[in-house]
Amino acid sequence: MHSSKHFIIITLLILLSLATAIARTAAEWRSRTIYQLLTDRFAQSPGNGNLQLCANNGGSNYINEIRHYCGGTFTGIIDKLDYIKSMGFNAIWISPVVKQFEKETKYGLGWHGYWAQDIYEINSHFGTADELKQLVAAAHARDIWVMVDVVANHMGPQQDLTPYTTEYLNAYTPFNKTNHYHDFCVIKDWGNDDEIERCCLGGDELPLPDINTENPQVIDIFYNWIKDLVREYNFDGIRIDTVKHVRKEFWSGFTAAAGVFSIGEMFHGDPSKVGEYQNYMDAVLGYPLFYNIISVFTNPFSDMGSVSRAVQSMRGAFKDVTVLGNFIDNHDVPRFLSRTQDRNLLKNALTFVLLTDGIPIVYQGTEQGFNGGDDPWNREALWPSNYTQSSDLYQFIATINKFRQTLPSSYFTSLSVEAWANDRIYAFFKDRALVVMTIYGTYDPMFSIQIKTNGLYNIGTELVNILNCAEKITVDNNGEVG
Ligand SMILES: *[C@@H]1O[C@H](CO)[C@@H](O)[C@H](O)[C@H]1NC(C)=O
Ligand SMILES: *[C@@H]1O[C@H](CO)[C@@H](O)[C@H](O)[C@H]1NC(C)=O
Repeated sequence: MHSSKHFIIITLLILLSLATAIARTAAEWRSRTIYQLLTDRFAQSPGNGNLQLCANNGGSNYINEIRHYCGGTFTGIIDKLDYIKSMGFNAIWISPVVKQFEKETKYGLGWHGYWAQDIYEINSHFGTADELKQLVAAAHARDIWVMVDVVANHMGPQQDLTPYTTEYLNAYTPFNKTNHYHDFCVIKDWGNDDEIERCCLGGDELPLPDINTENPQVIDIFYNWIKDLVREYNFDGIRIDTVKHVRKEFWSGFTAAAGVFSIGEMFHGDPSKVGEYQNYMDAVLGYPLFYNIISVFTNPFSDMGSVSRAVQSMRGAFKDVTVLGNFIDNHDVPRFLSRTQDRNLLKNALTFVLLTDGIPIVYQGTEQGFNGGDDPWNREALWPSNYTQSSDLYQFIATINKFRQTLPSSYFTSLSVEAWANDRIYAFFKDRALVVMTIYGTYDPMFSIQIKTNGLYNIGTELVNILNCAEKITVDNNGEVG
């Protein structure tokens, strides 16, 4: 009797500790570094997949294969968490986890997760709800936080059925009534914000039914759903899809219900338009900076001064630039190496996003030199790379990420200060670090610059090159380094 009572008490304690999950805030996320993965494309279950699937890029069936499931799973991610950890990442953004339609469309199936059929079920192609919980637990055991991608703007498309007929509506859970959706229209005028919020994405060919996020019943369903999803699976953050397609006020209640760090996808280049959304969620993806990065870092004949100016103009437009999600590419835009093959340019762009103000996000495959163009070519399966950790890009990212992890919290709360900006070279101070980037690329001329350190370091201080620790420069008697 005694021993069984003892057992019961221990069990209760374990349950309690599981129930009190820690809700991670924007302030805590600020110092994280995020690896973005698409569950279907990242890793298959060990010993239990078809590694040939989606592996023959250039093969005649490839385009068809990559518009369908390639076989990645939650268990596959668990098996490769150390690959992520060794690259120095301490957070992952995973693609949406909810059940998708199994019906064929002209663009294939919803393997990517943005075409929901039932928001309460887990996508069984990826595994079970328990396996998803195991993934989060396995990530937490390695101090990797998990951000889940969520969609509230639309549900999945059904080709060949007329929108909002009974047959069409009955297929959705829980949004199966006409008044759960906006009156049917398709976005035509991309300059019209009202149309962008009210009408369907996907064009006339494959409209994504646009949820009526003004309907109080819908609001109630979504706020409860996000609260339950985050708690049930113990997620640390949410990435919100298509935020500009829903009225802004909806997001305040949605992100409050989630109760964890939220970062939204506002796909636009104008800092003032994107910045507005930071009043409704913790952060947004750094699209304005992304456009600047691809115009400058992919082109040795551009002007690095414009990066410096972009960094400045962001500050006026955002409530807090230190939590913006910075990236050089993702699953929605052509990969960096499809714009230029010069890996030195890629390394300089990566240095910028990994160390500038904000939270870096690196998309799977960057570390293996993937160079796919626009959707679907940028959504390659990772397994053909054999997950090699010896590639120069993998090692490069690991070095900077590991440096980032040694930095004090003051690095992440302080803003960068321009140290140098001309056509080809841009340098900034941030906290105690000096970060220098160029767009010379593989054409690597001998150049020298003298940077005034403005009293940041004492005369005689040695600065160590983190890419080559044997290399040091000393602050001279004029307070300059060069
Ligand atoms: C509509 O969805 C609700 C909630 O999920 C469910 O109870 C109801 O049976 C559904 N109605 C139809 C016609 O499928
Ligand atoms: C991965 O391994 C396979 C089998 O050993 C090999 O044929 C292939 O070339 C490797 N791929 C890379 C990118 O190293």
